[in-house]
Amino acid sequence: MAAARLATFHAVEQPSSLISADRIAARVEELAADLDRDYTGVDELVLVGVLKGSFVFLADLARRLTVPRRVEFIAVSSYGESVGTDHPGAVRLLMDVRHPIEGRHVLIVEDIVDTGHTLAYLRRILEARSPASLKTIALVRKPDRAEVEVPLEYLGFDIPDVWVVGYGLDWAERYRTLPDICVVDPSER
Ligand code: IMP
Ligand code: MG
Repeated sequence: MAAARLATFHAVEQPSSLISADRIAARVEELAADLDRDYTGVDELVLVGVLKGSFVFLADLARRLTVPRRVEFIAVSSYGESVGTDHPGAVRLLMDVRHPIEGRHVLIVEDIVDTGHTLAYLRRILEARSPASLKTIALVRKPDRAEVEVPLEYLGFDIPDVWVVGYGLDWAERYRTLPDICVVDPSER
């Protein structure tokens, strides 16, 4: 009984903080100021949040901006998440944006850039729809993990090759609602 309880306790050990909520908030404010400056005079900026991981970042960023804006969502999954795939790095569209983006100024809002395959795919399919402009903002990036080169105009933080959770990011759907960006112990991954 005692051993079982100990094992359970270990499995739910809290991830340790890497970037505090305060540091995130300060960086989001800086990024919003950069975007307001760069998109001055634009009739409307279309923020395309990549589900699910970007939902917290998008909510904070969208409310910090002053440039006219609206929110769309897109959902993708990588074949790497399913077992036995022959297509490492391949990405699949699960849910598209609601409204056409032709002639619009579009900003992809990503939680994290890891290998870069997801972002490369998103930029390819959205670019094909002839937006007036297409840029990307990501909260975090793991430069050591890059497999494809893909433009990233705005970035919150570069981090080492660790698995991060919180502020929208998950590990097997857990920890998304932690206020800090935290590191999950590799032995628990
Ligand atoms: P990429 O296509 O390899 O760049 O992977 C991007 C996707 O992998 C992200 O949008 C996340 O869903 C997921 N991902 C990669 N690294 C992490 C991490 O450290 N924490 C949570 N999700 C991650
Ligand atoms: Mg993601």
